Amino acid sequence: MDNIAAKRALLDWYVAAGVDETIAHEPVNRLVADPITTPAENSSSIRETHAGLKATDHARPPTAQPASKPSQLQSRDAAVETAQGIAAGCATLEELRRAFEAFDGCPLKETAMNFVFADGNPFAKVMLIGEAPGAEEDRQGLPFVGPAGRLLDRMLAAIQLDRTKAYITNILPWRPPGNRNPTDAEIAACLPFLERHIALLNPEILLFMGGTAAKTLLRRTEGIMRLRGKWMKYEPALGDPITARALLHPAYLLRQPAQKRETWNDLLDIKSRLDQSENNTS
Ligand code: URA
Repeated sequence: MDNIAAKRALLDWYVAAGVDETIAHEPVNRLVADPITTPAENSSSIRETHAGLKATDHARPPTAQPASKPSQLQSRDAAVETAQGIAAGCATLEELRRAFEAFDGCPLKETAMNFVFADGNPFAKVMLIGEAPGAEEDRQGLPFVGPAGRLLDRMLAAIQLDRTKAYITNILPWRPPGNRNPTDAEIAACLPFLERHIALLNPEILLFMGGTAAKTLLRRTEGIMRLRGKWMKYEPALGDPITARALLHPAYLLRQPAQKRETWNDLLDIKSRLDQSENNTS
């Protein structure tokens, strides 16, 4: 095998093993090592990083100044305050979508390929909230379109719902690299937009997909196993409480299919609540 074929075989092996990101042992500040303005000085650092090797300081230009991107510099409190101010000023979903996409207070924006806002019917009675986009969502710019999303669609179909009768979003609109868990700071910076999103939609029922969404929006510390299986209330800062239910995340159900039975019971409860609401309005 020649050198290139050997490298290609190694890459194929990584992909087959599930690797979908090239991440070095240490973070690289790409705002300092700018490959566009200083290609010659940075080429070795970039090559090493892409090969998954340690990025060395000597490869960085000694005189480069950090670029002043707000997402790198804002403190957590400043980012939250900025987000609150911007979100409060959005009177429509479209304004919110544009303002959120332009928001620079969450550093995930710099590593994600796409901004993933929402999918489905904004007039639906049911609003689902997941955690964050995965690889496929990041590619397509839509929530829940990967393997977990396909299971979610089947769960919705089981209670006669689909994306024309439900609205789907996430806590974070940008994919955390390698699907790592979002940090508290990332969630805090994006939360004002989600709270405004819920207020503008004003759904009848909120469904929290997984522990992160449930704990964040219910302001609880218990795990999903304690939060699921019962009706709860989401209490917004302004306005009336909204009936809410926490469900096991479909990605978890893919790994633990034995838990689908519990989720089926949750889905039946949701269906009977929706039927009741349908009867009350007809
Ligand atoms: N998991 C989530 O929580 N959201 C998505 O959009 C996809 C996977």
